[in-house]
Amino acid sequence: FGSLAAKVQRNPSFSTLNSDDISYFKEILGEKGVIEDEEWLATANTDWMHKYKGSSKLLLQPRSTEEVSQILKYCNSRCLAVVPQGGNTGLVGGSVPVFDEVIVNMSLMNNIISFDKVSGILVCEGGCILENLITFLDNQGFIMPLDLGAKGSCQIGGNVSTNAGGLRLVRYGSLHGNVLGLEVVLADGNVIDMLGTLRKDNTGYDLKHLFIGSEGSLGIVSKKLLMEAKRKLGEILSAFEFLDSKSLDLVLNHLDGVRNPLPPTLHKFYILIETTGSDEPYDRQKLEGFLLHAMEAGLISDGALAQDINQASSFWRIREGIPEALMKAGAVYKYDLSLPVEKMYDLVEEMRTRLSDSANVVGYGHLGDGNLHLNISTAQYDDGILTQIEPFVYEWTSKHRGSISAEHGLGLMKANEIFYSKPTATVSLMASIKKMLDPKGILNPYKVLPHSLSS
Ligand code: FAD
Ligand code: MLT
Ligand code: ZN
Repeated sequence: FGSLAAKVQRNPSFSTLNSDDISYFKEILGEKGVIEDEEWLATANTDWMHKYKGSSKLLLQPRSTEEVSQILKYCNSRCLAVVPQGGNTGLVGGSVPVFDEVIVNMSLMNNIISFDKVSGILVCEGGCILENLITFLDNQGFIMPLDLGAKGSCQIGGNVSTNAGGLRLVRYGSLHGNVLGLEVVLADGNVIDMLGTLRKDNTGYDLKHLFIGSEGSLGIVSKKLLMEAKRKLGEILSAFEFLDSKSLDLVLNHLDGVRNPLPPTLHKFYILIETTGSDEPYDRQKLEGFLLHAMEAGLISDGALAQDINQASSFWRIREGIPEALMKAGAVYKYDLSLPVEKMYDLVEEMRTRLSDSANVVGYGHLGDGNLHLNISTAQYDDGILTQIEPFVYEWTSKHRGSISAEHGLGLMKANEIFYSKPTATVSLMASIKKMLDPKGILNPYKVLPHSLSS
């Protein structure tokens, strides 16, 4: 495990669980909603990368907004810290306890409440697994405007709370545009209904945006949210992803059944382009034309076009499989940066020079969004390597006016680094908002805000 948690002190004003607390939770959730099982807790205490590990003794599984509200109301009155948890696929240590926080797991709140085919508005609970929503909408002839490699496990509440970008942002935009409304439960248990379905409503502050990307630090995205699904229309670009040859090598070496669709010549970069249209032959013709033109113009040296849906998913498997391949390769230092596109790869190369043979430095990401995933892979975690990477990577990003978190959030990993991307006055304002909505600081402590301002 990484050594980050060791640098944070447990906030002494938080209470520790006692048997009365457990009895109360059993009263409101029933025996089944109160999990003390060690194996279950070991999984819930550990993040996807196996990098952060908490020591929570309790996981709660509410089934309704009312239950979330009762849990938070009680935890707030007892000053018990809480970590909201969705699919636990987050990559910055935000979804697991740092110490003994109570885990509020949203998995049982997984109902689709309604879908309106005329407006394309979907209303569902926060614990719905993304892939289930994608399949549901696909069956209705609609497209979910969000897709990401973790779709089989991540939940829509987690996606909203991290403002996940994913693979189709280039076409459909961010969740700030696609989420039309939210219901959230605040730290004191109050339920805030921001579920308005109006497309235009300028009556003051649009508060739902505060919760999109707030990483569980301001409220729990609970019963419903509204998502604008997009009709399958037009032959517009829907994904523009890139990976370098080292990323491809990792996938080919560590994942079973993955094949390079191109002849095994060494190419430095690979681009995965996807279009989504309503007229397949016409779409294909356009893509073929593009490929030919790009090759003639010397922009690309080779290319392959998926002939059917199976081939298309095998191409996607390469791109989506990179995080999994990195995990299988050993320890990974993950950086998720927004940078000017023309500067993006300079950082990868500089990092390679800096670390020489001590690590495998790979670059991939959402080129269409200017989002580089710089990943440094080593056999095991090593603080010596970390000091060569940080703060260099943050300073470099700040110097080029980039963002130190394009889409994964700050979590525990980057809470103290926020100043590289946000001015002090903005961070102070964020801390004031946090204080107002969660005066005792029980919601996802030690995350997002710098530790100097968060207790
Ligand atoms: P969790 O990991 O459980 O939680 C993430 C954060 O949200 C935590 O701070 C948690 O406290 C909070 N949270 C969770 N549920 C709620 C809720 N209901 N209310 C309030 N707070 C909540 N991210 C991208 O942006 N783009 C990608 O392309 C992408 N691809 C990925 C691919 C893989 C293989 C993996 C493992 C991760 C990827 N991610 C990506 C990271 C991404 O943040 C998550 O996958 C996803 O958005 C998190 O959802 P989750 O349900 O797993 O949330
Ligand atoms: C991706 O784009 O694959 C995800 O954000 C996960 C990662 O960065 O590893
Ligand atoms: Zn990504």
